[in-house]
Amino acid sequence: MMHHRTASPSAPDGLAVVVVAAGSGTRLGYGMPKALVPLSGRPLLEHALTTVREALPAASLLVTVPAGDTELTAVAAACGARAVTGGATRAQSVARALAALPSGVTRVLVHDAARCLTPPAVFARVLAALQDGAQAVVPVTEVTDTVRGVDPAGRSTGTVDRAALRAVQTPQGFGRALLERVNGAAGLLPDRGAEDPAGITDDASLVERYAPEHPVVLVAGDLESFKITRPLDLVLARAVVESRG
Ligand code: CTP
Ligand code: MG
Repeated sequence: MMHHRTASPSAPDGLAVVVVAAGSGTRLGYGMPKALVPLSGRPLLEHALTTVREALPAASLLVTVPAGDTELTAVAAACGARAVTGGATRAQSVARALAALPSGVTRVLVHDAARCLTPPAVFARVLAALQDGAQAVVPVTEVTDTVRGVDPAGRSTGTVDRAALRAVQTPQGFGRALLERVNGAAGLLPDRGAEDPAGITDDASLVERYAPEHPVVLVAGDLESFKITRPLDLVLARAVVESRG
């Protein structure tokens, strides 16, 4: 585990990274929050935070943890991050973290702890796009499966042109004011158990829906940023850690 560092109360470069880790990890099936599941002897959250620190050493770091958690909170503290109790959904966890941002933060990256092997270069690309003036930045990869649409009954509606599709990853980058505005527009307030808006599965889709005047800028993601969701993903993650030595 990394050694003790105090969470900084302000963000010297105006950048904060929110790492969402308040999920339960039901599909992984370890009977513990996914971010606590060990990968080569260290919890997923520790892998994730170590990479963020390496990529963005000056950023202010916030981690959403499940209600009542003590273990992830300890991992966060050991990595110089502040723990914030998450909400019932990912979107509500993000809203709670936004409400806890230190003053002076002007840009926010939102990252899944479950994408704990994301290379530092991806963080650098997202930040560079923000510094170039983008207000909403999403890392993406090409789609390699052939993809077919279906109707509500599951009947085929035909093959979709995969050349016109991209798979979306995190960290996603935003101007703070914009991200706060679209969360508010969606009713995602920290003290409300509001339903997530239908069809919204990431932070950038909130911008598309509630602030369409801001184009979502795409940068290259990385295959190693895959999300650990099911047991097979953990097999791949172990192999990636081993390959990095
Ligand atoms: N997350 C969160 N708060 C929630 C739900 C999810 O902070 N209420 C976080 C997870 O911890 C994870 C990321 O959002 O890092 C992506 O969610 P997902 O992969 O679905 O993780 P879990 O919700 O933990 O897994 P599952 O859906 O299988 O229970
Ligand atoms: Mg989930």
